[in-house]
Amino acid sequence: TTESDTAFKITRKTDITPAAEREAMLANPGFGRVFTDHMAVVTYTEGKGWHSAEILPRQPLMLDPAASVLHYAQEIFEGMKAYRTPDGSVQLFRPDANARRFRHSAERMAMAQVPEDLFLDAVTQLVKLDKDWVPKPEIGTLYIRPFMIATEAALGVKPASEFKFIVIACAAGEYFSKDAGPVSVWVEERTVRASRGGTGTAKCGGNYAASLTAQMEGKEHGCHQVLFLDAQERRWLEEMGGMNVMMVFEDGTLQTPPLDSGTILHGITRDSLLTLARDRGLKVKEERYAIDQLYGDADSGKLKEVFACGTAAVVTPIGTFKSTEGGCTIGNGQTGEVTSSLRKALCDIQFGRAADTHGWVKKI
Ligand code: PLP
Ligand code: COI
Repeated sequence: TTESDTAFKITRKTDITPAAEREAMLANPGFGRVFTDHMAVVTYTEGKGWHSAEILPRQPLMLDPAASVLHYAQEIFEGMKAYRTPDGSVQLFRPDANARRFRHSAERMAMAQVPEDLFLDAVTQLVKLDKDWVPKPEIGTLYIRPFMIATEAALGVKPASEFKFIVIACAAGEYFSKDAGPVSVWVEERTVRASRGGTGTAKCGGNYAASLTAQMEGKEHGCHQVLFLDAQERRWLEEMGGMNVMMVFEDGTLQTPPLDSGTILHGITRDSLLTLARDRGLKVKEERYAIDQLYGDADSGKLKEVFACGTAAVVTPIGTFKSTEGGCTIGNGQTGEVTSSLRKALCDIQFGRAADTHGWVKKI
């Protein structure tokens, strides 16, 4: 019921960004502001399936003001990256995992399913056309943002019958403007990100909108990110606003919250790091960990390192936690050894500097 006509029609931008201007924009891109010249758009209509696949000059969307996405937030997205390798070629990292998670998110939000090959084709075609926008590895990566919105003009509360699947891309330097030095994290006690049966495992816009007051509160306390606790006991670590969390203990164990609560996003970086840790013989635990344990273990020195991980954040060390009651410093507040060596191992594969023994990278 899906694929109708999904060969991409390519319309190139005529006034493409001149090379010198593009290079200047790529010199210090920050995150999420320097966009490429094109976008991919595919339309879904009930009864017809996916059709009108196009690569177009990047441009504003025309939406009916009654479009469901604007009222009932039927919206999902993905985050993935293209990397420039030492020989100048461009590659993706586990794009099939993003395509799968996108299907999962669509299912949870009662949206049309984007077939995985259509998802991969849209991403590949866009990156191919905008290849020159992939920064040099010393600068960063091309961040790719596939997303889907409900476009049907109808105010009745029901799953929409029309959708657009769109892919845009932007240059990305460090997500945190601290040269990957340790960040500080606000322990959120007032609001929760997800509860059992909710939408925590879906990558839907609403989850992020709901996290913003906590993010603001954290910022007021000088923090870069927010750590959310479980909704029931307000005690167990779940994840951050836009990344998963991992701990390293004195005995070398790497621990991260388990996914069985159904409230945590199944991070692809999380999964990759657990695999790399197991490869090198580290003990890996996917077990609950409480915030009071974290404070105690940080004080006693048992907890050595904590880091955040995700596509945008890569692996970002956490130096301090702050909360209404105080907080704690992790280790000496500096980047830990396991954190930096896992980060390096992951990045070496992503940028094509190390052998990809897991079949994770895909050349464009
Ligand atoms: N958790 C949340 C809430 C996120 O937004 C992200 C980022 O996508 C992650 C975790 C990490 O997921 P991934 O490693 O697949 O980027
Ligand atoms: C990503 O890492 O892709 C995300 O979606 C997180 C967001 C904070 C940019």
